[in-house]
Amino acid sequence: MDDFIAGLPKAELHLHIEGTLEPELLFDLARRNGVKIKHDSVEKLREAYAFENLQSFLDIYYEGADVLLHEADFYDLAMAYFRKASSENILHAEVFFDPQTHTCRGVPFKDIIMGLTRAKEDAKKELGISVYYIMCFLKHLSEEDAIATFQQSLEFKDLIIGVGLDSTELGNPPAKFQKVIQMSHEVGYRVVSHAGEEGPPEYVRDALDLLKVERIDHGIRSVEDKDLLQRIAKEKIPLTLCPLSNCKLCVIEKMEDFPLKTLLEANVCCTINSDDPSYFGGYIVENYKSITKSLNLSKEDLQLLAKNGFQASFAPDADKQKWI
Ligand code: HPA
Ligand code: ZN
Repeated sequence: MDDFIAGLPKAELHLHIEGTLEPELLFDLARRNGVKIKHDSVEKLREAYAFENLQSFLDIYYEGADVLLHEADFYDLAMAYFRKASSENILHAEVFFDPQTHTCRGVPFKDIIMGLTRAKEDAKKELGISVYYIMCFLKHLSEEDAIATFQQSLEFKDLIIGVGLDSTELGNPPAKFQKVIQMSHEVGYRVVSHAGEEGPPEYVRDALDLLKVERIDHGIRSVEDKDLLQRIAKEKIPLTLCPLSNCKLCVIEKMEDFPLKTLLEANVCCTINSDDPSYFGGYIVENYKSITKSLNLSKEDLQLLAKNGFQASFAPDADKQKWI
C-alpha cells in the first residue's frame, strides 16, 4: 500500500508555504539573516511542536516566519518544498502564502511574491510541477489591513490565482471579511476560505453564503450539520482536508475519528492535503498513509481522493485531463 500511495499522481490544494519551513532551514536562514531564535537547537525547536489547539500552533508558526526577510529566503523556502513535493509525486500545487506575516515586519510585498514566483518558474522547468499561488488574509487582523494587502497585491495580480482566509478562526467569522472578499471577486481572484476547522458549521455556511467561496479549507465540522453536508455535496464544494493537521491541533482526538467516511458517504468531494507539514509531522504521503491505516481505506478510495485533488483544482480542464 505504501508504494501505491507514493506512486499515485497527486495534487496539493491546502499547503501554507510558511508551514513547510523545516527547522534545519529555519536555523540556516536565522544565521544568514542574523535573526535570534528562542530555541538553541533543531532538536529543541522540534520538541516545542506540541500543540493543544490552532492558536498554540499559530504562535510558534508566526515566530518561525521571522527568519524570512529577503527575496532569496522565499525562493529557498519554496524550492525546498517543491523538491519534496516532486519526490512525493505531486504534479500540481496550489500554495498559500501569508503576506501580512511578512509585510508587518517591513518585508516588501514585492520581495515575497518575486521570490515565490522565481521558485515556481524553476519548479516548472526543473521538476515539471505546476504551481499556483493563493494569497491569504489573516483572520486575526482587521479587514482594513486585509484591504491594504489586497491593494498591494494588484500590481502582481497575474502571479496570484486567488485569495483565501486563514489564521485564528474562533471569534473571526466570515462576515468580518465580506468587503475585501467582494473586492477580490470583482478583480477576478478565485476565492477559498478556511472554515469549520475549529469553528462551527455556521462559519462554513457563512463562507458559502457571504463570501461565495469555491472551496472550503478543512470544513470537517460540517459533519455536525446534515443539511449543510447535503448542500456541500449538491453544490459540489470541495473540502481540502488535512488529517495530520487535525490530529496535531487536537481538532480530533485520534485519526480513527477523522470523519472522512461520513463525508464520502454524503458524496462530498474530499481532497487530502498537508497544511503545515514541517509542523505536523509529515507531507502529503504521510497524510495518505495515516488515514489509510486508521480508516482502513482501499486502493479505490485512495484513487478517488487523488483524482478529486486534480478535479477540485483551479487548473484548466486540459491540464486536469492530462493528470487524471
Ligand atoms: N488554520 C488556520 N490558519 C492556518 C493554518 C490552519 O490550519 N495553517 C496555517 N495557518
Ligand atoms: Zn491551513
